[in-house]
Amino acid sequence: MTKRINTKFAKLVKYYSLINHHLILNNKSINRYKNKDLLFKGNKDVQLNKLKKAIEKIKGCKLKKNATNLVFSDGNKESKIMIVGEGPGANEDKEGLPFVGRAGQLLDKMLLSISLDRRNVYITNVVNYRPPENRRPTDEEIARYLPYLTKHIEIINPKILVLLGSTALNTIIGNLEVISKARGKWIKKNIGKCSTLIIASFHPAFLMRQPDQKKMAWIDLKMIREKIKELKIKIEK
Ligand code: URA
Repeated sequence: MTKRINTKFAKLVKYYSLINHHLILNNKSINRYKNKDLLFKGNKDVQLNKLKKAIEKIKGCKLKKNATNLVFSDGNKESKIMIVGEGPGANEDKEGLPFVGRAGQLLDKMLLSISLDRRNVYITNVVNYRPPENRRPTDEEIARYLPYLTKHIEIINPKILVLLGSTALNTIIGNLEVISKARGKWIKKNIGKCSTLIIASFHPAFLMRQPDQKKMAWIDLKMIREKIKELKIKIEK
């Protein structure tokens, strides 16, 4: 029993040291740009281009070696609603765009159910290259891409940040709660210079496997719709 707890604890310590837990689990601004390469200047377009270039320059990453394309983002960079998934799949890798496969089609339907589409939101992933066999990115891979994701969020500066699935949840919030408990709750958080309201929900790929959970995702979608109203976020049509 004690041995089991110790192993679990050791794994937890390793995970949190990899993902800089102290920067994530408190509510102070996250400032993790020890890497001077991520101190960008200029307008959104310039900064996003620089971020993309910085990701292209990542060295020694197996994900990158095995992937065809960098999957950076899709949607409207001016949007106040940002969505973070896990990582590209085969279709995304082929097209260089996030959420274009079956999970993406479901995401489109989910957005449509609250009168949104890709032109109204900004979409990215925790990792920007496809993990082989669509496996979950490892803690090490997540830790490697975290500074880039943080910078990405800071540049887009969303008022609402939607985390789809446990990988996005654990990366940004930590893994104190499982997705089924953490979903459907608003959390206010500072990420770099971005102060945002975060909500986690189920990943569309999970919803395809567990369609009975769609009713919970619908609750989350309605919460997002209400928050858009409350914050008077303008949706450009
Ligand atoms: N799943 C994700 O998490 N992201 C994608 O881009 C596609 C599928």
